[in-house]
Amino acid sequence: MLFQPFTFANGKTVKNRFFKSAMEEQLAKHSRPGDELVRLYEVWANGGAGVLVTGNVMVDKSGKGSIDDVMVADERDLSRLQQWAQAGTQNGALLIMQVNHAGKQSPKAVSAVPLAPSAVPLAGMDGFINPPRALTDSEIKTLIAQFAETARIAEKAGFSGVQIHGAHGYLISQFLSPHHNRREDRWGGSLENRMRFLTEIYHAIRAVVGQTFLVGLKLNSADFQKGGFDESESVRVVQKMSALGIDFIEISGGNYESPEMLTAARQKAGTRQREAFFLDYAEKARAVSRVPLIITGGFRSQAAMNEALGSGHLDFVGIARPFALVPDLPNKIAGGDYQTVKTERIKTGFAPLDNKVGAVLEMDWYMNQMKRLANGKQPDPTLSPWKVLFKTLWENGKAGLSTGRS
Ligand SMILES: Cc1cc2nc3c(=O)[nH]c(=O)nc-3n(C[C@H](O)[C@H](O)[C@H](O)COP(=O)(O)O)c2cc1C
Repeated sequence: MLFQPFTFANGKTVKNRFFKSAMEEQLAKHSRPGDELVRLYEVWANGGAGVLVTGNVMVDKSGKGSIDDVMVADERDLSRLQQWAQAGTQNGALLIMQVNHAGKQSPKAVSAVPLAPSAVPLAGMDGFINPPRALTDSEIKTLIAQFAETARIAEKAGFSGVQIHGAHGYLISQFLSPHHNRREDRWGGSLENRMRFLTEIYHAIRAVVGQTFLVGLKLNSADFQKGGFDESESVRVVQKMSALGIDFIEISGGNYESPEMLTAARQKAGTRQREAFFLDYAEKARAVSRVPLIITGGFRSQAAMNEALGSGHLDFVGIARPFALVPDLPNKIAGGDYQTVKTERIKTGFAPLDNKVGAVLEMDWYMNQMKRLANGKQPDPTLSPWKVLFKTLWENGKAGLSTGRS
């Protein structure tokens, strides 16, 4: 089943069911994509995955999640984007640009006053992220147009589609959450209103791209946060976006305050035993729509991937961290020489430090692996977390530890 092709509603075909999920690479220079990104995606395209999603690409400088994120707000980098698209669509792969705005999760090093639906600060981020201010109605409309502009440029550059990042506590996810969105205008209150930012972004993108360009979504199954976006609301968003004609929906969960996308800490042991964090949710989403579904988080063994696809509740297996360690994972499985990749939690072993920066350190560790791939080196599973920590502090100062959490 992993190697069965899949055809989207618009007629575009994917050669297999491996969906390389977004991983923020932090390889841009002054927000611009360059040779390292081109080489990294060449490696992944030749590794055999059917779909490659880029790390989040920011639609505006106010929404950067780290200093070294790619930002595409106009056509100045069109030729670089073309090279990137060419690299990532080799070997029959589809390359999807993930489009994002970090909202209140934009760190101090980037945003003095981050933007959000409402002025609700993030818990536990003092010193790294400043409290946000609420967006005005006209700023919201401008941002919607900026998402569409980035998508238009992605199509012009040769990308196969875009994925709207509606998960992990970034701006769209903030709008969806009753905890983060306390607005009393047409952008807040009922789920229909909280969803409006997302649906308008979707319509705005569709209005400027061609029929064969894929437009997908990454959505939380839940925020795993008291008073936050929960599973029943998430299923209703799937139903709505599917009815609007979205091409695919990838399911994840969590945010900076509750990083479930990496750990599934608050979920049942049974879910973890079966590897895939959000598999139970897939069944519920499937019951309300036939939209192509991807479940991401936890897949490591070929058996779990096969079992999940075999359940019929999803169409692709979403895989992130393993691709930083085994970039040719699909080829290895096809060739029968895949050894289940081990992705232990990345820790220094010094508990006070791990509790404070654990998830960020883990992200940095994987970014270091991607940088190795981008420079023609092999991944290094033995890379010391301490080394990564010192390197990050050396290169970026304390602010470096605030950047990047998916
Ligand atoms: C280094 C790193 C960067 C990430 N960046 C993004 C991102 O830009 N956008 C996104 O939607 N998810 C991002 N994620 C989350 C992954 O897409 C995925 O949801 C998560 O890692 C769980 O999947 P896995 O268990 O296969 O790694 C990132 C994860 C890692 C480790």
